[in-house]
Amino acid sequence: MWSRLVPCARQLPRCFANVHVQKQIPGLIPSITSSRSTYRSLSYTKMINEGPKIADDEVWCGDGREEALLNHITGLPYLNTLRNNPSAIISEIEEWSDKQKPLMIVGPDKGERIVAKINEQKPKLMVELGGYVGYSAILFGNAVRAAGGDKYISLEYSKEYASVASKLIELAGLTDFVEVIVGSAADSLAGMAKEKSLKTIDILLVDHEKSLYLDDLKVAEKNGLLKPGSLVIADNLFATETNDFARYVRGGPTDETTGELKPFMYESMTMWFSIERWNYFTDGVEFSKIIPLKN
Ligand SMILES: C[S@@+](CC[C@H](N)C(=O)[O-])C[C@H]1O[C@@H](n2cnc3c(N)ncnc32)[C@H](O)[C@@H]1O
Repeated sequence: MWSRLVPCARQLPRCFANVHVQKQIPGLIPSITSSRSTYRSLSYTKMINEGPKIADDEVWCGDGREEALLNHITGLPYLNTLRNNPSAIISEIEEWSDKQKPLMIVGPDKGERIVAKINEQKPKLMVELGGYVGYSAILFGNAVRAAGGDKYISLEYSKEYASVASKLIELAGLTDFVEVIVGSAADSLAGMAKEKSLKTIDILLVDHEKSLYLDDLKVAEKNGLLKPGSLVIADNLFATETNDFARYVRGGPTDETTGELKPFMYESMTMWFSIERWNYFTDGVEFSKIIPLKN
């Protein structure tokens, strides 16, 4: 087990700040998926691997790169070809992230697998915790719409990031399908449950502050937003801050941290990715299907 400081904008909630990096968690079934791309750019992952050489105050988001991405895309001479074209916008975001400044997006390797799960599960409603610049909302929102779904909700803490995301989502022609809500994921989930504007979440994507994964999963559980059959997908299992979440979804019927009975069980597996564009960095995505508690 080893750790590195991975900085982020100081005025914003921690994103990858102080994320501790772990090797694969014992007891899991690793399944390595090679990437299909061959990028060599300096990446967030390379920075993690080279931790000591990187200054602790190096910024990985919130330094203007999100607005620069938006300005780049909206200034493209072929902007018209991007309108209502989610996959073209996704490619532009990936290219900018590879060639300009890395963006903390889920990326094409893991993204492709999540899209495959969406196609399999055919969710009516998918909610993501952590929207950033809208990459995942465009990629997965488009997939949910194509699979016959009703809505995709993106919960994002930062109004600056949410503003960039909303503009790119609009460009992608997904405004009627993807709703961006600004605020803490926990407050937004609880608020929507209270006013009954949100009922069952078919797929919950957890990709925000790593140390809040378990707390915010429990917010969704306690507010009755998850049901047997719902799927929880969590990104960045490389970070030790996600360990309590991982133990919870992989554990038995009792919540180890409280000693209480869980509302249901999870059938959970980790898919490990060796991300070529990130110098073969290993990161995991946890897929946890909710199953009823056994009698
Ligand atoms: C890794 S990025 C999300 C990347 C995005 N899902 C994608 O793949 O394109 C994490 C995001 O979570 C947001 N965030 C952090 N804490 C949050 C919270 N408590 N509630 C909602 N969003 C939060 C950050 O502002 C950041 O934009």
